[in-house]
Amino acid sequence: MSRRFYIFYSVLLLFYGSSTLFSPVTGDLAGDRQALLDFLNNITHPRSLAWNASSPICATWPGVTCDRDGTRVTGLRLPGASLLGVIPPGTISRLSELQILSLRFNGLQGPFPIDFLQLKKLKAISLSNNKFSGPLPSDYATWKNLTVLDLFGNRFDGRIPSGFANLTGLVSLNLAENSLSGEIPDLDLPGLRRLNFSNNNLTGSIPKSLRRFGNSAFSGNNLIYENAPPPVVFPTEKEKENRGIYISEPAILGIAISGCFVIFFVISALIIICYVKRQRKKETETEKLKPAKELASKLVKEKNVEVMEEKIEIDRVMFFEGSNLAFNFDDLLGASAEFLGTGTFGMTYKAVLGDSKAIAVKRLKNVVVSRKDFKHQMEIVGNIRHENVAPLRAYVCSKDEKLMVYDYYPKKSLSVLLHGKDSDKGHVAHVPLKWETRLRFMIGLAKGLAHIHTEHKLAHGNVKPSNVFINSKGYGCISETGLAVLTNPFRRGDESARAFKRYRAPETIDDTRRSTPESDIYALGILILEILTGRSSMHDEEEEGIFIELVTWVNTVVAKQWTGEVFDLELVKTPNIEAKLLQILQLGLDCVSKTPAKRPKMVQVVKTLEENEGV
Ligand SMILES: *[C@@H]1O[C@H](CO)[C@@H](O)[C@H](O)[C@H]1NC(C)=O
Ligand SMILES: *[C@@H]1O[C@H](CO)[C@@H](O)[C@H](O)[C@H]1NC(C)=O
Ligand SMILES: *[C@@H]1O[C@H](CO)[C@@H](O)[C@H](O)[C@H]1NC(C)=O
Ligand SMILES: *[C@@H]1O[C@H](CO)[C@@H](O)[C@H](O)[C@H]1NC(C)=O
Ligand SMILES: *[C@@H]1O[C@H](CO)[C@@H](O)[C@H](O)[C@H]1NC(C)=O
Ligand SMILES: *[C@@H]1O[C@H](CO)[C@@H](O)[C@H](O)[C@H]1NC(C)=O
Repeated sequence: MSRRFYIFYSVLLLFYGSSTLFSPVTGDLAGDRQALLDFLNNITHPRSLAWNASSPICATWPGVTCDRDGTRVTGLRLPGASLLGVIPPGTISRLSELQILSLRFNGLQGPFPIDFLQLKKLKAISLSNNKFSGPLPSDYATWKNLTVLDLFGNRFDGRIPSGFANLTGLVSLNLAENSLSGEIPDLDLPGLRRLNFSNNNLTGSIPKSLRRFGNSAFSGNNLIYENAPPPVVFPTEKEKENRGIYISEPAILGIAISGCFVIFFVISALIIICYVKRQRKKETETEKLKPAKELASKLVKEKNVEVMEEKIEIDRVMFFEGSNLAFNFDDLLGASAEFLGTGTFGMTYKAVLGDSKAIAVKRLKNVVVSRKDFKHQMEIVGNIRHENVAPLRAYVCSKDEKLMVYDYYPKKSLSVLLHGKDSDKGHVAHVPLKWETRLRFMIGLAKGLAHIHTEHKLAHGNVKPSNVFINSKGYGCISETGLAVLTNPFRRGDESARAFKRYRAPETIDDTRRSTPESDIYALGILILEILTGRSSMHDEEEEGIFIELVTWVNTVVAKQWTGEVFDLELVKTPNIEAKLLQILQLGLDCVSKTPAKRPKMVQVVKTLEENEGV
């Protein structure tokens, strides 16, 4: 070998790091790197992927993730990366440890990349929103561990292969928006949770094994529905119907109130009440949950104000002790209101009053209890005063409107802070949460719940991250206490109702209005796991249609003794908290025990959490 030739290769070797240029090595990181470069060099990508050949792939290549030791590539996520044309065969398929592959939202075409079937470790694959065409492969025996198969929005045709029956681990299967035809095979996949075959060209009837997904999973085909099912009503259409009854969101509750003649009188009454109240604050503050009618008549008498009492249906407005409501509903009418979001129980608005004080007003939907029961529950909830429970300040209970007034928390909910995601507003800027902040969220939340359970003999019923805020002392604070028993969230099949279900303990999952302290502890357990892992309850891999329940995931990882892997990277970076993390992880897992009796009591939870605060 000539000297010059030798130098040439040395330089090349140096440039390519430890990769071997002579033979395609599989089974190590160098092989993975070469496979990725071969892929990149043979596919059209008008936009650079910013894979710098002289930097380490695990740490710096966008879209590439590795196992914990950084020895193999386990994830490749290139959504919307402007990849065009046919995937070069024998490139990605060499990433033999690959578990997650997402190539959605690109311009990829050609037949199904058949060599992907060699990826035996694959857990989730999304090729959605590309231009793949032709028939689907028939044999899937190699994808033993696949849980998610997402082929939505391509041009696949031919039949749905009966070989899908071999995907025994499948949790989610999306074949919607393709050109698949023929009859649907009988797929006995008991683990399957999500399925969508909509908008294809399928014929015949829906096999028995798949009827549990409902007709909406099969719409837009030429299928014969057996047992003449009722026409499917989609949630969106339902919402539209509702819009006709309710005034559009940003038109704020103020308009809703003014639109209602009866409530107009309530407003007038409130103006008077609040005016007088401001002057006689001391006295009124000692009044504990007095119906406004009583207050009004008392004050009216004292102030000698003439009011046509019979016209005033003020028994529908209630204030609670310490509400300190230095505003009236006239202020509210002129207030700037902001739509905050649609929750499980209805819409929430932020209203800023004249004196720039902000309040949150919730409009309850689908109330299923009588007015008497409603008021009774309000009395219980309105009297809860604890620094870790968001106080209910006032409520309106009329025939048409159920409004609740809360303090407004300027810092975002735990959901936004933790996941950088607002269920209604999409992504917001994500700032990593520090360990202390997370711990204080948990401590405050547990204390608030313990107080509700022991002092008020009440279950919360809807513990979830979007209901947890930070109080003025920096600790967690739970909102929407006790509303779950009043409404039926499943009248609306929307996302928030589905989210609601994720925090339901197994024993209450079918009875949405039944809650117990034990079921609250279960929900708290899910929150603890979310806080430790930084993942959402329906562990949703970058929204790539990869839905694995958090509890299942944590248990799997822990069972494999990879406990370190479950924690949020931000926490792993924090020094000297490993022991605390492990203890709280165990606490979280105890809380989500399937058997209610095995879950710890809330006071124990508080104790364990508090032990981990400080040094
Ligand atoms: C792709 O590009 C690489 C260079 O990185 C080349 O060696 C290879 O032969 C090309 N073709 C395929 C199918 O990988
Ligand atoms: C690639 O990384 C090296 C150092 O790791 C750096 O010097 C070089 O500028 C980078 N190239 C590009 C195109 O970013
Ligand atoms: C599938 O996953 C199980 C554990 O979840 C693992 O033991 C097994 O090796 C995996 N199978 C393949 C083919 O990778
Ligand atoms: C499932 O895979 C096995 C081989 O592992 C094969 O014999 C069988 O025919 C496959 N079943 C279907 C329905 O394709
Ligand atoms: C569905 O099938 C019919 C014929 O059976 C065909 O004319 C039509 O183009 C197909 N539609 C799609 C979207 O493939
Ligand atoms: C199925 O996909 C269609 C789009 O093709 C969508 O409109 C529909 O909501 C989905 N149905 C289910 C049950 O996910």
